[in-house]
Amino acid sequence: MQLADLKTIGTIDRLAYPTPTRESLFRHELSDNKMAHYQVLVEQQTVVGFAGFWLIGDEIHVSTIAVHPEQQGRGLGELLFLNILLQAYDHPACLVTLEVRRSNLPAQKLYEKYQFVVVGERRGYYRDTGEDALLMTVTPLDGRYHQFLIAQQTALYERLQTEA
Ligand SMILES: CC(C)(COP(=O)(O)OP(=O)(O)OC[C@H]1O[C@@H](n2cnc3c(N)ncnc32)[C@H](O)[C@@H]1OP(=O)(O)O)[C@@H](O)C(=O)NCCC(=O)NCCS
Repeated sequence: MQLADLKTIGTIDRLAYPTPTRESLFRHELSDNKMAHYQVLVEQQTVVGFAGFWLIGDEIHVSTIAVHPEQQGRGLGELLFLNILLQAYDHPACLVTLEVRRSNLPAQKLYEKYQFVVVGERRGYYRDTGEDALLMTVTPLDGRYHQFLIAQQTALYERLQTEA
């Protein structure tokens, strides 16, 4: 993700999330936050989704992941998420965590598909609605899980090619 992407990112963010993220926050993440790693998914020269994480020591915390609503359900969110999980091995990180709204079942299903489990909850975490956050993680990030990710990647690429 680059500063030039922020207009499109803002549009997707507004459409995908109940309460959008301030553009200044993305700007801060890209310009000032050394822990932040943000990526965009580009299709036919258009940004259709994005994801970000913070690398804190040897832990990755997924901060955001969103696909334009018109492009959801095609495997693109999975592609973004899988990419983060594979990057965990490059750094390397030993833990990946994230928060998700209790009501956000599509996102939870995505994380469960990658063997994430709920390990805690943060009461009233989301200021806009007061909704609880579920804290999810996957362990361990070992060779076996890496093999699982590669198998998922192969299946996803086949799906994306078939549906292209
Ligand atoms: C969560 C999100 C990124 C998923 O992206 P997507 O491109 O629509 O999802 P994919 O097509 O890649 O689906 C991958 C998996 O997610 C799950 N999933 C996605 N949409 C789902 C839905 N509507 N219902 C149930 N499961 C769903 C499934 O497990 C799916 O695997 P499958 O195709 O084998 O069934 C997207 O819904 C989004 O942008 N939501 C708004 C922002 C948001 O809530 N982000 C998460 C914050 S924690």
